[in-house]
This record gives sequence, C-alpha cells and structure tokens, in this order.
Amino acid sequence: MRSVSELLIRRLDPASEADMDGFQEVYAAAELAEDPDAALYSREDGIALLSSGDTSSLFEAYGAFVGDRMVGEWILMGSTRDNLEVAQALLWVDPRHRRQGVGSHLLAHLEDHALARGRRIIQAQARVGDRLEGNRIFAEQHGYTLVMTEIERRLTLPPALDRLARLEAEAAPYHRDYEIRAVVGPVPAELRASYVDVRNLMVVEMPHGDLELEVGRDTVADLDALDRERADAGRVSVTGLALHDATVVAYADASVPGADFRHVDQYGTLVHPDHRGHRLGMAVKCAQLRLLAERFPDRHYIQTSNAEVNAQMVAINVALGFEIHQVWAQFEKRLAQS
Ligand SMILES: CC(C)(COP(=O)(O)OP(=O)(O)OC[C@H]1O[C@@H](n2cnc3c(N)ncnc32)[C@H](O)[C@@H]1OP(=O)(O)O)[C@@H](O)C(=O)NCCC(=O)NCCS
Repeated sequence: MRSVSELLIRRLDPASEADMDGFQEVYAAAELAEDPDAALYSREDGIALLSSGDTSSLFEAYGAFVGDRMVGEWILMGSTRDNLEVAQALLWVDPRHRRQGVGSHLLAHLEDHALARGRRIIQAQARVGDRLEGNRIFAEQHGYTLVMTEIERRLTLPPALDRLARLEAEAAPYHRDYEIRAVVGPVPAELRASYVDVRNLMVVEMPHGDLELEVGRDTVADLDALDRERADAGRVSVTGLALHDATVVAYADASVPGADFRHVDQYGTLVHPDHRGHRLGMAVKCAQLRLLAERFPDRHYIQTSNAEVNAQMVAINVALGFEIHQVWAQFEKRLAQS
C-alpha cells in the first residue's frame, strides 16, 4: 500500500488548467478502461459544475496527487435544500495506479469530508459484470452494501419514426385531456413553477431502496441556476412535457452535450402520481425523441439508466427500442460518527 505521506489529497480548483486537465484525464482514463464506448462528461461539464453559482446543490471534487501527477479523484454531490444527510459519491483511480491503496485513501478522505458536511448516508455507483468484479469487491470491503441494480440502456438515433408513430397512436386515446409538447432550451417561463414542482417529486418517486427521503425543495431560481450551468457546459436541454390546465404534470428531461460528442443524456422522466394511467410517460418521451431527431440529427444515440425494479419505466424504454448497454450497482453506506 502506498504510504499516506507520498499521496497528497487536495481540493481541485476549477480555475486551474492543470487541475482540470488532470480531473478530466483521470476520469476519462478510468471510464474508458471499463467501457471503451462510455458516454463521457466533458471537461466543460466538470468546470461548469465546480464553478456553478447553483446554491441548491453541493458539488465538490478532490484529487490525489503523487508529485504533480493526479492519480485519482473523488466527487461528492447532494442537494443543499432537502435530504441533507444524503450524498452521492464518485471515485476514480487512474488505471495505471490501481491496487496501490489510492482508492482506499481517497474513499476514507471522502467519508471524513462527507461527515464534516453532515452527510451520513453515502450512495455510490459502479459498473459491475465480467472483468469488473473489482469495483464490487472494493465497495464491499469498505462497508458499502449493494442496494439496487441499475441498467444503462441506449437507443440509436434517429429513432425509427414508424415505431414512434405507432407508440404515439397507441397512447393518444389515453391522454386526450392533456397537451403534449417538447421544447429545446429552457422550459418556458409560464411553466417553470409547475415544472419545478413535478421535478421535486423525483427523489421520492424513483426507486430508492429503504432510504427515507423527502420531496425536493428546489425553486424556480434553482432551475434557473441549473439551466445556466448546462449552458456554461455547452449543453442544450430537450424536454418533453405533458400539460393539464396549463400546468406541467409529466416530463422527460434530456441534455445534449457539445458538438464533440455523439450522444444525448436522458435524465429524469416522471409522471405526477395524480396523473398516472394516461400513458403520459410514453407520450412525453415520444415528443422528446421526435424533437431530438429533428434538431440534433448528428447524434448517434441517447442513453438512460433505470433501476432494474422500475418495471413501468423499463417497459416504456424497451418499447421505444432501447437496448441494454451496461449493468451498474448502486451501493450505500451509513457512516458512523466517530
Ligand atoms: C474501485 C477503484 C476506486 C479502486 O481503486 P484502487 O486504488 O485500485 O483501490 P485500492 O488499491 O485502495 O484497493 C483496495 C482493495 O480493494 C480490492 N480491489 C480493488 N480493485 C480490485 C480488483 N480489480 N480486483 C479485486 N479486488 C480489488 C482489493 O481487496 C484491494 O486490496 P489489495 O490490492 O490489497 O488486494 C478503482 O478500481 C476505480 O477507479 N474503479 C472505477 C470507478 C469505480 O467503480 N469507483 C468505485 C465506486 S464505489
């Protein structure tokens, strides 16, 4: 095991070219070693998130250095509005520097840091499967428990328009009282308040094991900050919406990264519990995919991850033609206060 004195762990500075080069290099090397076709976040994403004025979320990154060389890094994320005891952790070690204790030192550092911020419950994700057993062994050895399996799926773009038309036609009789639309860029001003309200349900409505979570408390100002952060990262949002009485009751949120990338990230899709049973999930995704195909014809695929147990969401994605790309494990640890 590498001695602690040789390894310096310090906060990364988004204004430092060298820090951000190292940050992206370690991340990209670690991701591509596991999945040569991984849909990466860009250096601009990292800088935008680290220098964001978005006070509704915690986003911190530390790097582990041997001399000037960054060999590993961690990111801690969470909401500063709700669920204040929970945080999401990401940890990467440069593949050339593995099995030397770097990951263990970084994780211990991250946990101390999280506790100092009052975050007792740490959620972490890692790829699992053939040749990737090391991630699970590492996580379990450090007290993390597997709570859920997530499946990353991808749909080739542009989508088959005849299939979209068939799915739209099948869903249409169920949602005659709703308006379905999709927008490129920020959601329009008159819909932002109800859009935030329905987004705030995501944390409790998506499968979350036995964790007791509270509904989000983001405001329209927080959504403004998120939109600015995406724009700073060179991203454009494409959102499918279902409206009832001029109020957003369902959405599908995708983010198109800058022109250097071939993919689109599909984030949340949610239908308000009072409006389920109207095939609105399918409707908002179809509207979003149509607009994506029209406005971003250069994209090769859209990717999304769902809990394996999320039968309704998985069924919609499978019907749309999404195919399994990778299995992820969701781990959790409750930190003990020392
Ligand atoms: C998981 C990861 C962070 C480990 O980093 P690392 O610096 O190699 O970890 P350490 O050297 O501290 O390993 C500690 C112990 O974990 C276990 N372990 C780590 N990698 C392993 C592997 N590939 N196979 C089997 N066991 C492994 C071993 O028990 C190891 O101790 P040992 O080397 O004395 O046998 C690194 O492989 C990585 O970046 N993976 C990709 C991203 C990821 O999955 N992050 C973790 C999310 S929880």
